[in-house]
Amino acid sequence: MTLSDLDRLLAERHSCRAFRPEPVPKDQIKQILTSASRAPSWCNAQPWNIVITSGAETDAFRRALQNEVTTGAPEPDLPFPTAYTGIYQERRRKCGWALYEAVGVQRGDRAGSAKQMMENFALFGAPHCAIISSPADLGPYGAMDCGGFVMAFTLAAQALGVATIPQAAVASYGKFLHRYFDIPDDRLILCAISFGYSDADHPANGFRTDRADLDEIARWVG
Ligand SMILES: Cc1cc2nc3c(=O)[nH]c(=O)nc-3n(C[C@H](O)[C@H](O)[C@H](O)COP(=O)(O)O)c2cc1C
Repeated sequence: MTLSDLDRLLAERHSCRAFRPEPVPKDQIKQILTSASRAPSWCNAQPWNIVITSGAETDAFRRALQNEVTTGAPEPDLPFPTAYTGIYQERRRKCGWALYEAVGVQRGDRAGSAKQMMENFALFGAPHCAIISSPADLGPYGAMDCGGFVMAFTLAAQALGVATIPQAAVASYGKFLHRYFDIPDDRLILCAISFGYSDADHPANGFRTDRADLDEIARWVG
């Protein structure tokens, strides 16, 4: 394996926002989890725990989540960002606009953007959803370790032709997720990953995000 193989995988991976309904074979899901488990973690604690839905259970969860979103209020385990300002606000807007443009939502169309946002809670039609949690005692470093796991999960999936999207939106209903999946309160629910096969021709999958130049993200000392 060369860096160019890895770069190709990194470049091919993108967040998928429309899935086909066909399930991913269970042995492939196990392969993805096994590969993702190679992620590093402080003290090799491997704090990640993953609840994975398939088949009718994904559909039942999707319906229950959509119902929760329309009747309840967000109660995330992790505090959500308090503000995106400056360059972070610019980047956030840019990727939001790229999505809305791809799906034909005009700027200022609040109903249209809200409808697209609600697709999060339909899991973008994915046949599987993974809920990632970390022990509360491990705090932000546990969450950081799990971030590495999420990255490795998305790349391992990509290598098998399986599309993914990490979703904080799902984790914003953390209290509901604890109840629904019987996840103990001593764990923090960090995010979900919806996954399956991409509906590649869907407009929501018709754009790609860019990345900042190195001189924007790195400062050389010496
Ligand atoms: C922790 C995390 C949470 C995310 N939550 C959401 C989400 O709730 N909804 C969504 O549409 N995209 C979500 N994304 C996807 C990001 O918008 C996406 O990774 C970013 O715009 C870069 O695009 P790319 O993944 O296609 O390269 C999330 C990504 C990460 C890493």
